[in-house]
Amino acid sequence: MTKKDLFLANARGEYTNRTPIWIMRQAGRYLPEYRNFKKNFSFEELCRTPKAVAEVSAQPIEILDLDAAIIFSDILLILEPLGINLKFDPGPIITPILEKPEQISDYQEFDPAKELSFVGDAIIETRKRIGQNIPLLGFCGAPFTLFCYLSGMKGARDFYKAIKFLTNYPVEGKKVLHTLAEISIKYLKLQLSAGADAVQIFDTWAGELGSEEFAEWSLPYLRRIITALHQDNAITSVYIKGSYHLLDQIRGLDADIISLDWRVPMMTARDRLSPKALQGNLDPHLLLGPEELIIEKTRKILDEMKDYPGYIFNLGHGILPETPVENVRALVQTVHSYERKINVRR
Ligand code: CP3
Repeated sequence: MTKKDLFLANARGEYTNRTPIWIMRQAGRYLPEYRNFKKNFSFEELCRTPKAVAEVSAQPIEILDLDAAIIFSDILLILEPLGINLKFDPGPIITPILEKPEQISDYQEFDPAKELSFVGDAIIETRKRIGQNIPLLGFCGAPFTLFCYLSGMKGARDFYKAIKFLTNYPVEGKKVLHTLAEISIKYLKLQLSAGADAVQIFDTWAGELGSEEFAEWSLPYLRRIITALHQDNAITSVYIKGSYHLLDQIRGLDADIISLDWRVPMMTARDRLSPKALQGNLDPHLLLGPEELIIEKTRKILDEMKDYPGYIFNLGHGILPETPVENVRALVQTVHSYERKINVRR
């Protein structure tokens, strides 16, 4: 079974004897090879140079033997052709931020196949580099999370900005969310036709919403994107950080894979989300600790998911730049050497 077969089988909810693993933000600053390669580029230049993207996207596969590649890019690149300025230092800086309802007429719908063609080219180059047997993931940000950044989010303390706009200008706010959803559909289709095997939608900040607000400002736009992709038989994954209180609503989505953060016990996720494929959910902070603890916590999750058909190991959020590479090796080794071998009953 190739790594691609292994990943796709689990994405479809099939049982395999080995668990595939990839890591959110797996190409990044914790890797010395990434830091070295990145010396020659700004983050934006790197994202716009397909051969360079192929190099850094392949690094985690080649160096750490991970089971899937994710295209190196950023969820915020979609905002630039909409008509805003974007810089990374290394956190995102957006100008002008969305504060007044009049501003929404400045946003222009665009065709990602034209304005973001470099992402399609990067997928083609990465495929050449990693070959046909490694699954390659595309991604985008969910409309609500993109909206948070559009309204000036730098970190959790800026969350109020998006809510201030959405509560005061609900009609204009929803118009922007709708536009972001429509562009994201085209953007993900571009990635799939360039050769991505599956796509993940990152709704990092939606877990900050109460369930009624989630139903209003996030869920309909996730549903719109996922339904449109489902019509093309695409494999979709959704990641929401802090989704414990939203599991019932998430279950109603057509997504194939639900990616969980570390605050949802996998046993709870199984009960509430079966028969969907699940992905997660080791706390990325634990990778800063001693190897024995990492192995113990990883095995605990693997034990919990031992007989679950459709399971992909991941962290509960992106890997921290401070993570020692040796700890990642121990994690991958633990997942790879774990044999599931069990009689499966759904
Ligand atoms: O997972 C991967 O390896 C693929 C690459 C990837 C990046 N960003 C590269 C990146 C992915 C999937 C993302 C998604 C992303 N970007 C999200 C959703 C997932 C999440 O982490 O919550 C969000 C919210 C962003 C927005 C963003 N981009 C932030 C908040 C930052 C600064 C934080 C940081 O890590 O520095 C970025 C910059 C960014 N995106 C970097 C990388 C590797 C760091 C820039 C650098 O290396 O110079």
